[in-house]
Amino acid sequence: MLDTLKQHVERLYHQADVELRQAGSSQACEALRVKYLGRNGLLTPLLQQLKDIPADQKAQAGKLINDLKEALQAQLDEATRRVTLVEQEHQLAQEAVDVTLPGRPRTLGRLHPITQTLYELYDIFGHMGFQIYETREVELDEMNFQLLNIPPDHPARDMHDTFYTKTPGVVLRTHTSPGQMHVMRERRPHPIRVVLPGKCYRFEQTDASHEWMFYQLEGLAVGTNVTLADLKGTLTAFVHRCFGQDRKVQFRCSYFPFTEPSMEVAMSDGRGGWLEILGSGMVHPVVLENGGYDPARYSGFAFGMGVDRIAMLKYGIDDIRHFYANDQRFLSQF
Ligand code: DAH
Repeated sequence: MLDTLKQHVERLYHQADVELRQAGSSQACEALRVKYLGRNGLLTPLLQQLKDIPADQKAQAGKLINDLKEALQAQLDEATRRVTLVEQEHQLAQEAVDVTLPGRPRTLGRLHPITQTLYELYDIFGHMGFQIYETREVELDEMNFQLLNIPPDHPARDMHDTFYTKTPGVVLRTHTSPGQMHVMRERRPHPIRVVLPGKCYRFEQTDASHEWMFYQLEGLAVGTNVTLADLKGTLTAFVHRCFGQDRKVQFRCSYFPFTEPSMEVAMSDGRGGWLEILGSGMVHPVVLENGGYDPARYSGFAFGMGVDRIAMLKYGIDDIRHFYANDQRFLSQF
C-alpha cells in the first residue's frame, strides 16, 4: 500500500517538475498551482486515500504526501519568481524612454508683420507726443465722405470704390480719415495730437499693390498755432526714424478734399529715385468746422499712410497679398 502511494507521489512530483520548467508566464504558474495544490487538485485524492491506509503506516504516508506538498510549493515559488522576473524585465524594456530621440520643438507664435510695423509706427509717433486712437470700421457715409468735404457728387468719390452695406448711408470705411471727425467732436475744444490706425476696405480688383482690405495710419494735430512747418518737421522726423537718417524727404503739391494745401510725401530710394509714402496737408477749414473747431482760431495738419506699403518698403516685400495669404513660409520670416 505504502509503495503504491510512494510511486504515485514520485510520478506526480516528476510530472509537476516537467510542467513547471516549461511554464513561461505567471498565469501558467498559477494554473499549475491550481492543478496540483488547489482544492480539486491532484493532491486532494491522495489525501483522501490516507483513510484507507493501515494505522501503522499512516504517519509515514502522511509524511510522504506532506513532503510532496512542500516540495511542489517550493518548486512553484521558484518558477513564479523566475517568470515574474522575466516579465518585469520585458515590461521595463517596453516602457523605457529612449533618451537619444530628438526633442519635439515647441513652435512659438509671433506678431504679424503688419502688427510689428504698426507697433513701430506707434513708437515713433508716441515719442513725438501722439496718442493712439481707434475708431470704427463700419462708418456713416456722412463721416467717411461728406463731413470730410467730399459731397455725394464730388469727383473725389471716384477714388474710393466703396463697400456699401444694406443699411442706407452705412459703408465700410475706405480710409481712416473719418476718425479725424470722431476725435475732433470728442475732444473739442482741446488741442489734439493723435494717430488713428486700422483696417480700411475698398471694392477693388486685387493685385500686387491693391487689396480690398488694408491698413492705414492716420495722423491729426489740431491747435491754435499749428503750421505747415510742424507738418513738415513731423513727417521728416518720421521718415528718418522709420527708414533711416540718410533718406531725403520731398513734399509735393497734391489734392485731397479734406486738406488745403495738400501734399504728397516721397522719400529717396537710395538709387536716385523717389518713393511716394503718404498723403498729407493742412486740415481744410470746412473739416475743422465740421469737427467743432473754429477755423479762425484753430489750425491743424493731417496725414494718412498705408501701413502695408510702409511694411513692404521696410522689408522689401513685392506683393501686398503675401500679408493676408497666411502662408507660414512668409510669416515666419518676421
Ligand atoms: N485718406 C487718404 C486716402 O485714403 C489719405 C490722406 C491724405 C489722409 C491726406 C490724410 C491727408 O489725412 O491729409 O487716400
